[in-house]
Order: sequence, then C-alpha cells, then structure tokens
Amino acid sequence: MMIKKAVFPAAGFGTRFLPATKAIPKEMLTLVDKPLIQYTVEEAKNAGLEEVIIITGMGKCAIENHFDSSFELEVLLKERGKHETLGVINEISNLIQFAYTRQKRPLGLGHAILCAKALVGAEPFAVLLGDDIIDSRVPVIGQMMKVFERYPASIVAVQKVPRSKAHLYGIVTGERIAPRIYRVVDLEEKPKKPKSNLAIIGRYILTPEIFDTIERTKPGRGGEIQLTDALRILLKDEPVYAYEFEGERFDAGDKIGFIKANIAFALKRPEFRRELRRYLKELGI
Ligand code: G1P
Repeated sequence: MMIKKAVFPAAGFGTRFLPATKAIPKEMLTLVDKPLIQYTVEEAKNAGLEEVIIITGMGKCAIENHFDSSFELEVLLKERGKHETLGVINEISNLIQFAYTRQKRPLGLGHAILCAKALVGAEPFAVLLGDDIIDSRVPVIGQMMKVFERYPASIVAVQKVPRSKAHLYGIVTGERIAPRIYRVVDLEEKPKKPKSNLAIIGRYILTPEIFDTIERTKPGRGGEIQLTDALRILLKDEPVYAYEFEGERFDAGDKIGFIKANIAFALKRPEFRRELRRYLKELGI
C-alpha cells in the first residue's frame, strides 16, 4: 500500500525556546531564510508524499498563513517587478496539499497523532516532527518509504547517540536483521536507565492500527500520551522496525542545536558560504 499522507504535530508550546516562542510558533523560527516547518514540508514533498496534515493549536495561525497564498503580497511584488521573489512566494503555497486540525489540549505526541485519525483514515501514513531537521541526500522519510516496501509495518527512524544523552529520547532495543534495519524488541520513552543508544528521531511510518492503540495508551512520561508507549503496545500485535537513516540531524527545537543548524545550512548556500567562512575564520576559534 502506498503512503500518501504525512502528519506534522505542531501544537507544542515551544517552551525550550522561550522567550522567542512566546508569540511566535517555534515552527516559524527562521533557519537561514525559511521557517523551520518549510524544511520538513519540503522533505515530505521531495519524498513523493501528497498531503500534509498539520496538527496545530492555540497561536499557530502563522503556519496556515505561511502556506496559504497571499494575494496582496503577490500583487505588490508584481507591481514592483520582483518576479524572482514572487516565484518563491508562489512556490510555497503550491508546495503540496494541506489539511489542518487542532489539538485542543497539550496531552502529548501520541494524542496529537490521534487528532489526525479522521483525516488519515485506514491507510499507513508518515509522521514528521519539525524539531528534527535532517540534512540528507535522499529525504529521510523517502528512505523509510523504501524500507516500508520491504517491511510493510510501522517503522521508526533511529540514530545512535552518546550513552550520556540516551535518556533524552525514545530508546529502541532491537535485533539487527539487515543493514540499517532492526526488528524492534522493545521501546521506552526517555528511560532513566537506557538499555541501548538507539534513539528515536522524529520520522515515523505508522500503520492505521496505531490510532486504536493510542486510544488504549495511558499517560506516561510527563503525564502525556506518548507515541513511544503506543508503539510498545502495538508491538504485541504487529512487528515494528527501526531504521538507522542516512543524514545529519539537528535538534532545531533546542537553542544550541538551532544555532548549529543555521551555521551548517548557511554554509551550504553558495551566496553566503564565502563570507560566512571568512567571518568564522576571523573569529579565530
Ligand atoms: C519526541 C519523542 C521521542 C523522540 C524525540 C525525537 O520527544 O517522544 O521518543 O526521541 O521526539 O526528537 P520530544 O523531543 O518531542 O520530547
């Protein structure tokens, strides 16, 4: 079965990024010259996904406005002969098909996914967490869609992290069955004593059975309905796989991770590379 839809949980308060996120959704923070969420939406589009379902909440209108067409701005740019910028602006609203729904209360990632139940229907789907920005040749969600062709089941993206950081992630224990692929034996959300260093990164392919499973999932870490806990329950009925993706991941929901991502992505841009390199050299650090 083809994967066509991608769910983007974007209802969080962005508390790790205060005060910047007091009045601005963290998804709208600028990475070089585009809001963070545009990078993950482009990842979904480049992987061939057809529809993006964004789970929003209070104060998140800027996200909808960003992906909408902007008639006044388009007229203004046309009048001023700014055709190149007009092209960039038009491209954003024509990226992909969007649907929005709201998570009324911040009850956790699992609960946010459950809000998409009616919009997703009975088909497997992708989930992309916007905090995880991944620089890769092939879009990570596309790499996972390829794995899904061979292993048509739920798949979580994983990366090896230093043991000292493992308690900050969902942690997978698994049996390696092919290069980069593990059959999951157990998963635990932010464990105090991590059993491995295979950390879940924010890309998932989920079977629709996850919805009923989330409904049966009790609040876990932080009193929230966790997706990791739901996957642990799902594991009793279906296989779940973990895929060690190819690419460099930045935790852009974290201040220092965001700063690093800005430098790395700016260095990749031909128009900024030379001057930025010179500046970094001048700093002599
Ligand atoms: C979420 C997931 C966690 C995963 C992480 C990756 O946590 O619950 O399992 O490791 O994303 O970024 P959050 O960072 O939203 O607390």
